[in-house]
Amino acid sequence: MKQTVQTLQAKKQQGEKITMLTCYDYTTAKLMDAAELDMLLVGDSLGNVILGYEDTISVTMEDMIHHTAPVARGAKNAMVVADLPFLSYQTSVYDAVKNAGRLMKEGRANAVKLEGGVLIRDQIQAIVNASIPVVGHIGMTPQSVNTFGGFKVQGKTLDAARKLLADAKAVEEAGAFAVVLECVPEKLAALVTKELSIPTIGIGAGAGCDGQVLVYQDMLGMFPDYCPKFARHFAEMGTAMQDAFRRYRAAAQDGSFPTQAESFTIADEIMAQLEQEA
Ligand code: KIV
Repeated sequence: MKQTVQTLQAKKQQGEKITMLTCYDYTTAKLMDAAELDMLLVGDSLGNVILGYEDTISVTMEDMIHHTAPVARGAKNAMVVADLPFLSYQTSVYDAVKNAGRLMKEGRANAVKLEGGVLIRDQIQAIVNASIPVVGHIGMTPQSVNTFGGFKVQGKTLDAARKLLADAKAVEEAGAFAVVLECVPEKLAALVTKELSIPTIGIGAGAGCDGQVLVYQDMLGMFPDYCPKFARHFAEMGTAMQDAFRRYRAAAQDGSFPTQAESFTIADEIMAQLEQEA
C-alpha cells in the first residue's frame, strides 16, 4: 500500500512507529521498498556519502533531481521525500515554491524536506499552499553547520530547548505533515513528540519519537569516513564488500574467473573458418 500523508499521520495516532532510511538510487530503492520501509529520504547527505563532500553545502538542485528521479522509479509503496538543498529555499518564498515544485515535477518526489523552524515558516506555508507535502527538519540541521561551529547536539540549555520547541510548533503551524528531529536529547525529543500532533522522525533523538531515520551507508556499516554515535550497524557491508572486491580481483588475476559457464559460445566451424582466414 502506498504510504501517504494520511497513512503516516494515522500511524502516529495508532502508536505505530514510522520507518525511514535515506536512499539515492533505483536499485537500493527497490530493495528498501521490498523491505517495506515507510519513507525513503533522498537526503542532501548524498553530498557526503555519494559525492564525497565534507558537508552538504555544495549540493545543488540538479544533484537532488538527478538522485530523486531513480528513487521515485524504484519505490512503489514507500513515500519518497526529497531534500531542498542549501540556498534553494532560504533566499525567498518564491525560490522555495519553485524549487520544491522542481523536486515534484522533475524528480517525482511525493514530498519535500527543508531545514529550519520559525525562520522558514513562510516558505513552509507557501510550499504547502502549492499542494506540496512538507517534512520539517529541526535540531542539528547540517546546512547550518558553519553557524553551529560543527555537528553538535542541539537543545541542551534551557534557552536552546525552548527555541527547539518553538521551532517544532512553527513547523507544525506552517502546515508540515511531519518533522525530523536531528541530534536532540532524547527527553526533549519525547516532549516535542508529545506536544505535536504531526509525527516526529528522529535521528540521534532517542526512542520517544514517532519514527526513526538513518543514513543507509551508516546503518549498513559501509561509510568509512566517520560513524555517528546514534548510527547502529545493522550489517557490516563495508567489510563484506571489500572482501568481495578482493576475491574478484584475485579470481580475475589467477584466471579462475570467468569459467566456461560464465562465457558465451560460438559454433566450432565458424571459429575454424575464422582461424583459417586470420
Ligand atoms: O540529508 C539527510 O540524510 C538527512 C537525514 C540526516 C535526516 O536530512
